[in-house]
Formats: sequence, C-alpha cells, structure tokens
Amino acid sequence: MQDLIPVQVGLLGLGTVGGGTIQVLRRNRDEITRRAGRAIEVTCAAARDLDKPRGLPLDGIAITSDPLTLINDPEIRIVVELIGGVEPARTLVLKAIANGKHVVTANKALIAIHGNEVFQAAQERGVMVAFEAAVCGGIPIIKAIREGLAGNRIEWLAGIINGTGNFILTEMLDKGRDFETVLREAQRLGFAEADPVFDVEGIDAAHKLTILAAIAFGIPLQFDKVYTEGISQITQADIDYAEQLGYRIKHLGIARDAGDAIELRVHPTLVPRRQLLANVMGVMNAVLIKGDAVGQTLYYGAGAGAEPTASAVVADLVDVVRTLTSDPENRVPHLAFQPAALSNRRVAPMDAVATAYYLRMHAVDQPGVLADITRIFGDLRISIEAILQKEPVPGEPHVPIIFLTHRVRERSMNAAIERIEALESVTGRVTRIRLETFA
Ligand code: NDP
Ligand code: HSE
Repeated sequence: MQDLIPVQVGLLGLGTVGGGTIQVLRRNRDEITRRAGRAIEVTCAAARDLDKPRGLPLDGIAITSDPLTLINDPEIRIVVELIGGVEPARTLVLKAIANGKHVVTANKALIAIHGNEVFQAAQERGVMVAFEAAVCGGIPIIKAIREGLAGNRIEWLAGIINGTGNFILTEMLDKGRDFETVLREAQRLGFAEADPVFDVEGIDAAHKLTILAAIAFGIPLQFDKVYTEGISQITQADIDYAEQLGYRIKHLGIARDAGDAIELRVHPTLVPRRQLLANVMGVMNAVLIKGDAVGQTLYYGAGAGAEPTASAVVADLVDVVRTLTSDPENRVPHLAFQPAALSNRRVAPMDAVATAYYLRMHAVDQPGVLADITRIFGDLRISIEAILQKEPVPGEPHVPIIFLTHRVRERSMNAAIERIEALESVTGRVTRIRLETFA
C-alpha cells in the first residue's frame, strides 16, 4: 500500500498554519500514510516573501512567490489554501477547482462569504473542498455535525469559537491583565487573524457561526445575516460583577432553530459559572450542541495555533486522499445536506430574539431612583431576577447598579434601555450583556 505513488500537494501560505501543516505531515508521515492508503507529500509551496526565515524542514519543497505555479501544476492533486482573507484566496481557490484540483482550506472568511459559489463550482467540477480547520482550529466540529449528528434535528448550538477572544477574556479574569497587552500576546502566539479586529469585534466568530449554522440547519451560508458584537467593550468591572453574581462572561456564537426563523448571533454572554462552557479557558474553544435525539453534546479543544489547526488540515487531506477514487455523487455533501435540499429559512432580526440580560448603569445615590428604573421594567413587562447595588465611592455622586432580568424580547429591552438612559438620575450609557443558561 505504501508503495503507491505519493499524492502531491501544493501549499498556499507558509505562515502559522502552513508551517504547522508541514511539521505534522513530516512528523507523522508513517501514521498518515497508513491511514490514507498513500503517502501525502507537499511538493510546492507559495509565500509572499521568499527571503523570510521559516524555521521549517523545506527540503524537497519548491518555494515560489507565484501561487499559479502550483495551481497550474498537473502533478498536484490537492491545493491547500492557508493564505487567509477573501482575495486573492477566492480567485486562487476557484482557479484550482477549475483545474480539477481538490481544495483544503482553513479560511473561514472565504467559506462564510463565498462558500456558496465555491461549493457550486466544486460540485460542477466533481472535486472536494474540505474546510474542517476553518471552525474551532483542532476540534473536528464540522465532521461531528455533518456526520456524527446526521440523525438529529439540531435545535441549537452555542460555542466559544474564537480562541483569541477567549484568551483575552480569560487573562482579564484570572490575572486582571489589560485588553491591549493580552491581544498583543495572542498575536505573538499566532492565534489572531491578520487583522485582529476580526477577533475582538466578533467578525471571525460570525464567519464560523455562519458555517456551523449552514451545516446544522441545512441553510445556505449567509454571513451578512449574523448579528455581531465583539468583546472590546467588556470592562474589568463587568467581569468582576458577573463573577459576584455567579456568572462568567464568554464570547459566544449562538444559532438556534426558533421555529418560525433561525437565530444567528455572536455576542458576549453571561453563562452560569457551573456550566461547562463557562470553564473553557485560554485559547480553548468549545461548542455545545442540542440535537433532538442525542440531547446535549459538547466538543472541546484548542481553537487556534499552528499544530492544532494543522491537525484539522491534515485530517482533511487524509479524507480527500481516501476518497480520490470515489464517485463524486457518493461523497459527503459539503454543507451536510444535499445541495438541492438546502432550505431558505428566514433569519430572525435581533429585536425578535428573546434572552435574559445583565444591565449595568450609573445612577445618583438618592431615594426614588431605583423605583424609577424598576417602574420602567414593570411597564414593559420585564421581570427582574437580581439587583446588585455597589457602595458609593466617597466624593462620587453616582453608584453602579446591576440588574439581571428574566428572558424578554430584545425589542422590549431596547425600549427599556432608551427610557432608563433618558432618566435624569442615570448618567451615561447602560451596559447590556445578554445572559443564557442553556438549561
Ligand atoms: P499567516 O499570516 O501566519 O500566514 C499567511 C501565509 O500566506 C504567509 O506565509 C504569507 O506569506 C502567505 N501569503 C499571503 N498572501 C499571499 C499571496 N498573495 N501569495 C502567496 N502567499 C501569500 O496566517 P495563518 O497561518 O495564521 O492563517 C492562515 C489561514 O488559516 C487564515 O485563513 C486563518 O484565518 C486560518 N486559521 C488560522 C488559525 C491560527 O491559529 N492562526 C486557526 C484556524 C484557521 P509570507 O509568510 O511571505 O508573508
Ligand atoms: N483567530 C482565530 C481565533 C484563529 O483566534 O480563533 C482560529 O480560527
């Protein structure tokens, strides 16, 4: 079996994940060959800067600055795209598909925004596009949903799906470190996106949620419908108050089948401290999924980094090699459901979504203020679960007041916040963080 001619692979990108992929393929060559049935060899790789020291074993690999060299090479069967971003990745992937090559990619932006086009092109050409590494780094979450949970109707999924964001929140909680310093460390460790705004403002998580929702519910990829909020507004004070109330702030991607519509939302969320999701720390990711048959299942592992992500890239390579000779009609569909069976379910607008809330506001420390605020909640039928009022700081006229509410539609909460902010006794903006218990 090992004597068969190796499958030649072309690698676009020699950065964090590209480097990790070369290392894993070399180190585990024998195991991988025994699993795939043929050796897998990177014979050509493209990067921008040919003089950059890589610290990698690159013997036997032709290095080029022209990606078309490997995309047009008839000997290369599989192109691994690890450049990132939308262009030139989209053009290069479509060209590779047009040339009849299978594609493996870790590029969530590309799949979330142009996946419908890429998968259609791949289907027409009879090639595979594998993208396990695009969601949650090393966790085989795509395979778990697409194959392991194929008998279920997925009711909802909720996950910590950005390693950089979770690393920042963890360091703020555990060590009180400031946001910017921790972000720079995440960049140094190779966790962050080329533009880290994608990590801290939730865009990367929204890319991943788009992909997860498509394979969970059999809907097209629709990144533009995801409600997206990042973690840049989370303060140390909110982290501390949440802890005092028995919660932890996590940045979650949530997709829910709400019956008449699908919810797609990414935002900081208070999660009860006893919940497993609340205890996922550092760069680790986790996705909790509720299937009607299996109940809740949880998938946990490293969400970013060179070798964890390479683990998923190489698994995709093995999958592709195993099925090189199979009839395209009999392969697992890219988005789990047969392409003609995708359904155009409506995505719920955010103001129709119901959640519980954490609210923090600053109010004058005088009689009647709390009554004014609770009257607004009462008028809008918002039920309060807990109130925390902190002692005033000497010389400071305003005190922080924190409310936890029961579930209510976002449009009612928007109205309440508008009215609270208009009170003379309340200063500044109300901080709103959504709260989920997953009970
Ligand atoms: P890096 O920035 O570390 O690497 C990108 C590589 O692409 C570099 O080698 C760069 O060359 C090369 N490159 C960029 N543009 C071109 C081009 N036009 N032609 C040829 N080569 C080019 O990124 P990562 O490895 O971190 O990420 C790669 C992909 O993997 C992204 O889609 C990312 O979202 C995804 N991903 C990353 C994870 C991580 O932990 N880092 C985890 C999961 C997914 P040069 O080195 O010369 O600049
Ligand atoms: N920047 C991403 C993260 C990489 O931090 O999760 C993994 O997709």
